[in-house]
Amino acid sequence: MSLLLDGIGELTTHGPAGTLADAALVVEGGRVAWLGPSSRAPAADRRLDVDGRAVIPGFVDSHAHLVFAGDRAAEFAARMAGQPYTGGGIRTTVAATRAASDGQLRANLARLVGEARRQGTTTIEIKSGYGLTTGDEARCLRIAAEFTAETTYLGAHVVPEGQRPDEYVRLVCGQMLDAARPHARWVDVFCERGAFDADQSREVLRAGIAAGLGARIHANQLSAGEGVRIAVELGAASADHCTYLSTMDIDALAGSGTVATLLPGAEFSTRSPYPDGRALLDAGVTVALATDCNPGSSYTSSMPFCLALAVREMGMTPAEALWSATAGGARSLRRDDIGHLDVGARADLAVLDAPSHLHLAYRPGVPLMHTVLLNGEPI
Ligand code: NIG
Ligand code: FE
Repeated sequence: MSLLLDGIGELTTHGPAGTLADAALVVEGGRVAWLGPSSRAPAADRRLDVDGRAVIPGFVDSHAHLVFAGDRAAEFAARMAGQPYTGGGIRTTVAATRAASDGQLRANLARLVGEARRQGTTTIEIKSGYGLTTGDEARCLRIAAEFTAETTYLGAHVVPEGQRPDEYVRLVCGQMLDAARPHARWVDVFCERGAFDADQSREVLRAGIAAGLGARIHANQLSAGEGVRIAVELGAASADHCTYLSTMDIDALAGSGTVATLLPGAEFSTRSPYPDGRALLDAGVTVALATDCNPGSSYTSSMPFCLALAVREMGMTPAEALWSATAGGARSLRRDDIGHLDVGARADLAVLDAPSHLHLAYRPGVPLMHTVLLNGEPI
């Protein structure tokens, strides 16, 4: 069954075809089979006239912590009243997550993935990190893998209460890694004061890489530090947050294959300064945008919201922010089949209830998804 999307007012491909007006696109077998001017559209089994709407690649949310139970709304309220964010609340979610059944974790995860999809997200990376025992980390990753191929082992999120840091790092790099490995594609570590220091972070990532996982890192979120440089040194696919960067960090990223993944939902929700997206782009760094969806620092599943923040607060143009939220996310996951709409790409796309991509930032908070196709099928 082929499907012709016709009457596209603005088609953003992020490929050699660039952005087309009055365009059409054919989907077949879950892939983009053809695209071009409406006037030359081939026949197909079905035809959907989108009546001048804009079509964009589906969002690639390359950073989310979705396997958890409970929420921390009271912690958010306290922050808005002046309390700082320290990451200390992670332990509250760990306790709730350990106490939850598989069914409860799965239902919460399904709800969040559904929310994300309805807002145009067609690929989502999902981390563990609220289990922090061998059994709970493996369980969280097994459940995450039911929803995405992009699963990330974050046993090194914080040192659980009552454990010695050196012993915990040994566990994370040993028995816990062995149990996580079958369900994970990536390894991650929270490199920060109060979490894991530079040497511990290197140890965790090296162990993951040796076990065949790709590396990503929570870097320079709450303070300046070595996180970004460790990412570059170890060839990590992505350095995430990048809130406090020195020019040395920016230079290191610019000369590397490591993507800087910016998570403005976290700055919004922790009332922190936004990362300097403009400076990164001007230096030639590849930038991705993602939600960081989690119950503590950023409880939003909305890529359009993060894109609007990037435009309003981080000096990115709407076109740059859209690229980062789609193609940039794909780069950070080292995927070339998503984040763009060339012939042969996965037919993951969103038809916007708007004439152009500008409306994503111009109309913040407004549900703008008309139709979302995942693998060529409406969600
Ligand atoms: O990316 N920084 C570490 N982890 C999450 C927050 C987790 C939490 O507060 O529950 C983040 O912001
Ligand atoms: Fe995170």
